[in-house]
Amino acid sequence: MSLNRDLENGVKLLWPTPVFSRKFDNTEAVNARLREIILEREQQDKGVAKSVVHGWHSTEDFFDWPFPEVGQIRDFVRTGMVELTKVTTGLQEGQFGGQATFLGWATVLRYGAYNSVHTHPGCAWSGVYYVDTGGSTMEGDDGMAHGVIEFLDPRTAVEMIPIPGEPFGQRIKFQPEAGRIYMFPAWLGHSVTPYHGEKDRIAVAFNIRFDDFKIFEAPKGDG
Ligand SMILES: [Fe+2]
Repeated sequence: MSLNRDLENGVKLLWPTPVFSRKFDNTEAVNARLREIILEREQQDKGVAKSVVHGWHSTEDFFDWPFPEVGQIRDFVRTGMVELTKVTTGLQEGQFGGQATFLGWATVLRYGAYNSVHTHPGCAWSGVYYVDTGGSTMEGDDGMAHGVIEFLDPRTAVEMIPIPGEPFGQRIKFQPEAGRIYMFPAWLGHSVTPYHGEKDRIAVAFNIRFDDFKIFEAPKGDG
């Protein structure tokens, strides 16, 4: 299976990068409860030093926390995992399977917090689910994006050579939204721009690792 796409007039798009973006419905009650759970957990767990700067990052056992709301987020993440894997394999759900490990951690960003550029080595998919954006916006009064996730163009040297339209090497920003997931290949470099809201910005980040991925039916197509 190839992700590549044919445009009109003999032009092909090679090496596209799949990103899953979905706003799940009716998440208000789940998010309100998760907010309580995460802030309470922050009081008991001093967290781990990771890529979050001036924020709190829980231990990576979020999906083991004993609350039904955690199970609901797990279901959302599973949905994204299936959709992305369908695209990269060219298969339908049920034609692939195996054991996937979900690692998740809660983050709380407060005024001035950010997340430096990083990838998630050793994993297949990574992502984030927003519990509470804390009122962050794509652009503040100073014209800067605040607390938004930013993806880097992963292609080597794309910024070195001018191309008409300058489509390569641009950073792409996505706005946080409560109840929304963004999920992407773990090798895709990303960061969170400094958050300048007064309220807590709460999210759950996660990694998915396939331990024994299996294809039950050979993919069809152009290989
Ligand atoms: Fe990340």
